[in-house]
Amino acid sequence: MIEYRGLVKRFGDRTVLKGLNLRISEGEIVFVLGTSGTGKSVLLKNTVGLLRPDEGEIWIDGREVSRLSEEEYLGVRRICGMVFQHPALFDSLSVYENVAFGLRRHDRLPEELIRQKVAEALALVHLPGVEERRPAQLSYGMQKRVSLARTLALEPKILLFDEPTTALDPITTTAVNNLIQELSRRLRTTSIVVSHDMICALGIADRIVVLDQGNIVAQGTPREIRGSEVPLVQDFLAEVPA
Ligand SMILES: Nc1ncnc2c1ncn2[C@@H]1O[C@H](COP(=O)(O)OP(=O)(O)O)[C@@H](O)[C@H]1O
Ligand SMILES: [Mg+2]
Repeated sequence: MIEYRGLVKRFGDRTVLKGLNLRISEGEIVFVLGTSGTGKSVLLKNTVGLLRPDEGEIWIDGREVSRLSEEEYLGVRRICGMVFQHPALFDSLSVYENVAFGLRRHDRLPEELIRQKVAEALALVHLPGVEERRPAQLSYGMQKRVSLARTLALEPKILLFDEPTTALDPITTTAVNNLIQELSRRLRTTSIVVSHDMICALGIADRIVVLDQGNIVAQGTPREIRGSEVPLVQDFLAEVPA
């Protein structure tokens, strides 16, 4: 469903991604772990075309996308939904308008259908009936779920999560992680979750990829990762209770 071939991304004389190769199958949940500043967000942004690679290819659903025009990329963003680290909702708009935002951008749909899709998306994130509220009236965890609903409303085949649980309390973290797993299975999406939470990666990932300074230093199933001897992986594993 997603393949990176020799992906290189530079900023000035600094090379952030150094020829990354990775294939992700349909329906897989892949966690990408790495210390901060290692290029995880840059990888996701290249995938949705917010940044473009300097070298290499990005294949999404059978199509090389990295050289598409901005206009052609709209179609890619339609199947490839990104959930940003911070909710980034419009405070002056209702939850309904926030969730409808993506739909209105991509399609011309009758209002009744929009209403239905918004309601479905909010139900998927377990927040039914909050359409008329404003983001400021919701907790941070709920705002994150609204932002997820906005992405889900477009019915993407691929979900990209950038640190979905950073800055959340432990209970909300568990809820968000459970939601990611539930949605991936229920909607059969392919998911990339950028995270530094090894505990949750071990719990829900099909595969864990560990990035260090723009390269993959380890990858495998949770079971394989638990047995990894790579020092960075061991550092991450040190946080995990036995
Ligand atoms: N738009 C940009 N312009 C210049 N440098 C950037 C840009 N985006 C990211 N970087 C740099 O690339 C490196 C990787 O960033 P990022 O992918 O955000 O790290 P993380 O793994 O924490 O998500 C960092 O050193 C960051 O400063
Ligand atoms: Mg980041």
